[in-house]
Amino acid sequence: MLAVNGKPVIRESVIGTDKPLLRVLRGETVSPPPLWLMRQAGRYLPEYRVVRQEAGSFLDLCYDPALACEVTLQPIRRFHLGAAIIFSDILVVPHAMGQEVSFVEGKGPVLSAVRSTAELKTLSDGPVRDRLAPVYEAIRRVRAELPADVALIGFAGAPWTVASYMVEGASSRDFAYLKGWAWRDRAGFGQLIDRLTAATIDHLCAQVEAGAEVVQLFESWAGAVPDALFEAFCFRPVVRIAEAVKKAHPSVPLIVFPRGAGARSVDFARHPAVDAVGIDTSQSAGWAAAEIQPHAAVQGNLDPVLLIQGGRALRDEAERLVRALGKGPFVFNLGHGVLPTTPADHVAELVDAVRRAAG
Ligand code: CP3
Repeated sequence: MLAVNGKPVIRESVIGTDKPLLRVLRGETVSPPPLWLMRQAGRYLPEYRVVRQEAGSFLDLCYDPALACEVTLQPIRRFHLGAAIIFSDILVVPHAMGQEVSFVEGKGPVLSAVRSTAELKTLSDGPVRDRLAPVYEAIRRVRAELPADVALIGFAGAPWTVASYMVEGASSRDFAYLKGWAWRDRAGFGQLIDRLTAATIDHLCAQVEAGAEVVQLFESWAGAVPDALFEAFCFRPVVRIAEAVKKAHPSVPLIVFPRGAGARSVDFARHPAVDAVGIDTSQSAGWAAAEIQPHAAVQGNLDPVLLIQGGRALRDEAERLVRALGKGPFVFNLGHGVLPTTPADHVAELVDAVRRAAG
């Protein structure tokens, strides 16, 4: 072992808790900020498209531990990223609850819709972890192969967002079935949210037990929750999940991404079980530095469309975000996921720009 003045020197990167992402999520300011991208594995990478073809369906890929591990690691091999996110989907939870789920080329997810309290009976009971063993096996494999300074993120969708796909049966613009049920029958819809809350706690804890070092909750449709229903169907379920995961695994940090929540993002930041809040493209970095960073780390929020454009505008914006948020705990990310038409070279350009911006 290396020694300086008689004291052993352990390279920072070999100590698990000293991974830059984990330091930021504990409240430290780290420069350059750790960077990862939502949807960093996916169709914009040619090597992903090859594996996806080989796997057959998207869910077959999610449930094949060797292939899921491979596509999780693809962006890590190409770019100097601070984290890997396990390759899976938020809709494996309803699938594990017995709902039919498939992904149709050019259309997105298609589910057998559950639209009333009576139809909740069609969902199966019991721990979802019993049906999601391949996801946990993929996590174990990724952990064994990750470089020492790269953290592994597990994830799930928040109950409202997952319910939106379960009730609508597909992606939606107006969420008429979802919101119709929630307004008409709060108690019945609340049962669906409660079932999802329990399933999500189970799935996140199982991911941590398999080796995930951080968990992220995607509340991608927070912006679609009517104000009068926000507390019951968005805020409280998210907080219950955060508290339960923290109780079981006190040292594991939790990131919440309430896309479209606007000023209500601060409510999540203020909650002691939430370590970081992801901000979306519409939110001001300066506002987040003033209102969120005093309570939690901020993650975000470069426009994914700018990552398609690349060049000078991309470098300038990366620099602006680092200037606005880099004086506190900050995780560089996008304001939403990487888009399929993104040139892979632009991700390398972004990583370089963030490093330069931090000086
Ligand atoms: O790299 C990563 O970020 C990890 C993998 C990941 C996927 N989906 C893979 C995926 C993660 C974290 C998700 C989260 C997810 N899934 C969300 C929340 C984030 C967001 O985008 O708001 C949502 C809403 C879903 C549901 C979902 N899955 C939709 C609406 C779609 C269709 C749209 C699309 O991009 O095709 C998916 C499919 C999906 N999930 C793909 C990938 C790589 C594309 C499927 C393919 O390869 O054909």
